[in-house]
Amino acid sequence: MDAHDAFGKLVGDLDYSMFIVTVRAGAEQAGCLVGFACQSSIEPPRFLVCLSRKNHTYRVATRADAVAVHFVPRQAKALARLFGGCCSDEVDKFAGCAWRPGPGGLPILQECRSWFVGRVLQRLDLGDHVGFLLEPIAAHREAGESYFTFDQAKNIEPGHPA
Ligand SMILES: Cc1cc2nc3c(=O)[nH]c(=O)nc-3n(C[C@H](O)[C@H](O)[C@H](O)COP(=O)(O)O)c2cc1C
Repeated sequence: MDAHDAFGKLVGDLDYSMFIVTVRAGAEQAGCLVGFACQSSIEPPRFLVCLSRKNHTYRVATRADAVAVHFVPRQAKALARLFGGCCSDEVDKFAGCAWRPGPGGLPILQECRSWFVGRVLQRLDLGDHVGFLLEPIAAHREAGESYFTFDQAKNIEPGHPA
């Protein structure tokens, strides 16, 4: 097996938390399920979210100063499917779930009680995904939650192939 194939299988075996990232620019809002995301610094606190150039969410995010990162509850399968399996070009995802305007007018999803809003510090060319380096500027944590994982999300057919 060559390195390319072996690498694909290695990372496919991993398990990690999934997030739903929502964005707003002017009157337009979008959001998608994201697996490529992690904390990248403790002090200062920083978080990296990677958005596929093919996604509608990415296109809106290029015009946004901040994004909302939702920690998806373990049982929120339908919400994960809505944001990961549908494209905002065709479906109004926000008509299909409960949300409210949060900091900076960003849509905050009611079902996700833990979330933060990050100011976009840098956009990084990382390949077919673009890294958004975030500085948290608002956050809410619901204690005792467990989160939706990559393993649970594997059977969702992405709205866009990466
Ligand atoms: C398991 C899984 C992981 C995903 N990870 C990412 C990701 O890290 N970044 C991303 O931009 N899209 C990711 N996606 C794809 C988007 O969530 C999906 O294509 C979505 O439909 C895009 O919606 P949009 O076009 O409305 O932005 C993932 C999808 C699945 C099912």
